[in-house]
Amino acid sequence: MKQYLIGIDIGTSGTKSVLFDTLGSVIASATAEYPLSQPHNGWAEQNPEDWWEAVQATLSIITQKATDGKIVGVGLSGQMHSLVLLDQNNEVIRPAILWCDQRTAEECREIEARIGRERLIEITANPALTGFTASKLLWVQKNEPENFARCAHILLAKDYIRFKLTGEYATEVSDASGMQLLDVPKRQWSEEICNALQIPMHLLAKVYESPDVTGYITKDAAEKTGLPTGIPVAGGGGDNAASAIGTGVCAEGDAFTTIGTSGVVFAPTNAPIVDPEGRVHTFCAAVPGTWHVMGVTQAAGLSLNWFRNQLASELSYGEIDSLCEKLPIGAEKLLYLPYLMGERTPILDPNARGVFLGLSAMHTKAHMARAVIEGVSYSLRDCLEILSEMRISLLRMTLCGGGAKSPLWRQMLSDVYGISVTILESNEGAALGAAILGGCAAGIYASVEKGCKICIRGGKQIKPNTDAHAEYDRFYGTYRTIYPQLKNVFAELKEI
Ligand code: XUL
Repeated sequence: MKQYLIGIDIGTSGTKSVLFDTLGSVIASATAEYPLSQPHNGWAEQNPEDWWEAVQATLSIITQKATDGKIVGVGLSGQMHSLVLLDQNNEVIRPAILWCDQRTAEECREIEARIGRERLIEITANPALTGFTASKLLWVQKNEPENFARCAHILLAKDYIRFKLTGEYATEVSDASGMQLLDVPKRQWSEEICNALQIPMHLLAKVYESPDVTGYITKDAAEKTGLPTGIPVAGGGGDNAASAIGTGVCAEGDAFTTIGTSGVVFAPTNAPIVDPEGRVHTFCAAVPGTWHVMGVTQAAGLSLNWFRNQLASELSYGEIDSLCEKLPIGAEKLLYLPYLMGERTPILDPNARGVFLGLSAMHTKAHMARAVIEGVSYSLRDCLEILSEMRISLLRMTLCGGGAKSPLWRQMLSDVYGISVTILESNEGAALGAAILGGCAAGIYASVEKGCKICIRGGKQIKPNTDAHAEYDRFYGTYRTIYPQLKNVFAELKEI
């Protein structure tokens, strides 16, 4: 009898559930979207119930496609950091505060004042960041004390879905790292941090390694999703840690760039290596005993998605690509800063916002679209530059995520980086990574690395064009000078 695995990725724009065979080939895939609510400038929330609806809808479709075999394991992946609060009846208390929400600058200062920046970095491997979960918890404590008082369980996005599927309150080290409550070198909750932030540790989920079994599909969940009762659910990973597994990026020297709603440049390390300035994050990786460093562009795919929805809804992404291809590098001297939701790497500034610079009456929508794609690519180059500065070994760069489907964007990244990039046979990234982890939990693969060897195939190399690289370099040089000149303007704008 054939065996199948399922990977579920709770993304920001939607949930994707994929049925794989044990060689990593896609048998069926389904996606369901949900809205992102932005009640104030810089805020971002979603309803966890929407994620669960999407999981049920997508699983109900794909589980029917496993008629000639049995689904044996499930893995979860999802947007990191997003805060879910449940009461003692397991009801969601308030909408989830998402990773890209920027309301917590004051709480970050408070965290560093209480713990001391150096000690915080020593334990959590990162400075306090608005994107991370700890500052969101402090915001709820301060601004909605009644909600915090009702809280019985603190979960992340994929871990809420795990609870719905298995009845267990569990998480795993890669996503837990992004809560800023974990001792990242020791891979366990930090009592010191929790005490300093007055977060009772009994509210936190049990922490596992990513390939571990964290629970089994309940009868109720089986009825709602079509999954078999009793099959194991693996720890899984935050979407970036899971994408690393889904692209076979498990060891030092390998790296990947993903363009989803956010954009990430990710490199595994054998030890927790920290950027003292905190411009890139250091988290536990999904391969037990390893860590990773990653730079994050908050609004990568989100920038193009925003541009299209607001200004070019008559065009498909393919049409946007074709229009952009006809334009020269630099979009006739139009530059774009992708800071729609503030920015992490390299500027760590929740007040920063998007900018078109150099608009002329000759520019068209196509120029603006090209500037957006170039601006996001420069921002990812910023991430790469910091990893190089930290002497992280980067021998092979793989591309994944929605943006990697665009031939224009693939070549542009190779040209902007000035290095070859690899495209895999499967672009399932996080969902495949989650499924491989599910396969480890089900005993199909003896280790994460062995699962990757079996499931990850292919590799088309895209080489940089030297002339294009030199041309992009000139615009990148100017791009880098824009933010420092606007930093104070962004701060002033925030105060108006
Ligand atoms: C990583 C991060 C984003 C989300 C988006 O730190 O916040 O990449 O995981 O899905």
